[in-house]
Amino acid sequence: MTYPIRPIDAAEWPAYSDVLNEAFGWTPHPTQNERFKAGTEFDRTLAAFDGDTIAGVTGICTFTMAVPGGTLPVAGVTAVSVLPSHRRRGILSSLMKRQLNDIHERGESVAALYASESGIYGRFGYGMAAGELRIRIEKPGGGFNRDTPQDPALRIRVVKPAGVRAELERFHASIVDRRPGRYARNAAFWDGVLADEEPDQQGSGSLRCILAEDANGVRGYALFRIKSRWGDDGIPDGTLNLNELEAGDPAAYAALWRDVLDRDLVRRTETSRPVDDPLLGLLLDPRQLRASWSDELWVRLVDVRSALSSRSYATAVDVVLEVEDELCPWNARRWRLTADASGAECKPTEEQPDATIPVATLASAYMGDTTMLAARADAGMIAEHRPGALRELVTAMAWTPKPWAGHVF
Ligand SMILES: CC(C)(COP(=O)(O)OP(=O)(O)OC[C@H]1O[C@@H](n2cnc3c(N)ncnc32)[C@H](O)[C@@H]1OP(=O)(O)O)[C@@H](O)C(=O)NCCC(=O)NCCS
Repeated sequence: MTYPIRPIDAAEWPAYSDVLNEAFGWTPHPTQNERFKAGTEFDRTLAAFDGDTIAGVTGICTFTMAVPGGTLPVAGVTAVSVLPSHRRRGILSSLMKRQLNDIHERGESVAALYASESGIYGRFGYGMAAGELRIRIEKPGGGFNRDTPQDPALRIRVVKPAGVRAELERFHASIVDRRPGRYARNAAFWDGVLADEEPDQQGSGSLRCILAEDANGVRGYALFRIKSRWGDDGIPDGTLNLNELEAGDPAAYAALWRDVLDRDLVRRTETSRPVDDPLLGLLLDPRQLRASWSDELWVRLVDVRSALSSRSYATAVDVVLEVEDELCPWNARRWRLTADASGAECKPTEEQPDATIPVATLASAYMGDTTMLAARADAGMIAEHRPGALRELVTAMAWTPKPWAGHVF
């Protein structure tokens, strides 16, 4: 059975969002629903129809994302859902195929997404491209090393988030290209970041903000909520949930973290951070940072040639890769990737390949975290025809800092 696919119009929004709510088991508050609608790019939605019923949906957020050495237009895949009554009939597969073709026609070379489960997207050529640490620091474990940078010109100012929206937007835009995976936020995204109705608070109180600034302006900010609580023994037992902490320099970064980790009546801080967060270097006793790892951003090379030519590389590299890609046949061929300090080029070739590599594995290293590429090479899951070629590729694709998008889209 086939399910015709097309974008929806605004009148079809309720049926579109219902598929999402049924698939995820969500009951959004009307204000959350309105925000979601306002952020929807209707011409980039796709819906699969079973007669008059929308049975599966997806959408795209169009944005610019940082990649190693620059920024790129990226298709941010979102809202992927299939009605529970229509699962496992190939609807997601046909939506993914159509969407990849649409992205290719539009000329975007990279797609990215957050996965609800990590087993879903590898089959569609997406690679696990960024990880994150979900961390908890209990007091008094948040002490810093004595040589932590300090700047007497810095002060921390407690502000209402909505009142400093313009400063937050400006500051975020100024640092967005410093870490691969970060993406430029439009007004709809900021509406979500600063949303503070009761359903957004999830029992943790209103959104709070501190700015680190000096006479020249903002040098960083933190957004968080505090779940205030006292134990039966009367001892303060608050939890600070840190949503975001961004700084433009190390002293501002340390000052913000100090404020967050040293709040009165707060027993613990919980948040998600990049795997190479500088906080690890500040802590006197890093073992106090209890962390679990999770995958974060997934990336798809929709156009291998353009994507590989559009990033920088850590070292010179010259490899011929036979790329395997069932869904995007224009990628499935031999490519010669050469890069040095003057730039990178990826062009078609008929030369003997140094390695045969699935497109998802190549994509996993695109943002600069080569953990999956190296692991798959070491696990014998990439055919290497010239000994040492994969090591060369891993070294060249690695990037500092490691990728992290930092906010679900
Ligand atoms: C995940 C979801 C979109 C899959 O849709 P679907 O139409 O059932 O998927 P398909 O029938 O096209 O399945 C394609 C393949 O993916 C596999 N697959 C589907 N969902 C999977 C999952 N959650 N984990 C692992 N494999 C999965 C199928 O088994 C199938 O494998 P096969 O080709 O080897 O037979 C759907 O189950 C859903 O809406 N889930 C809840 C919401 C959600 O998690 N969405 C993803 C948001 S990032």
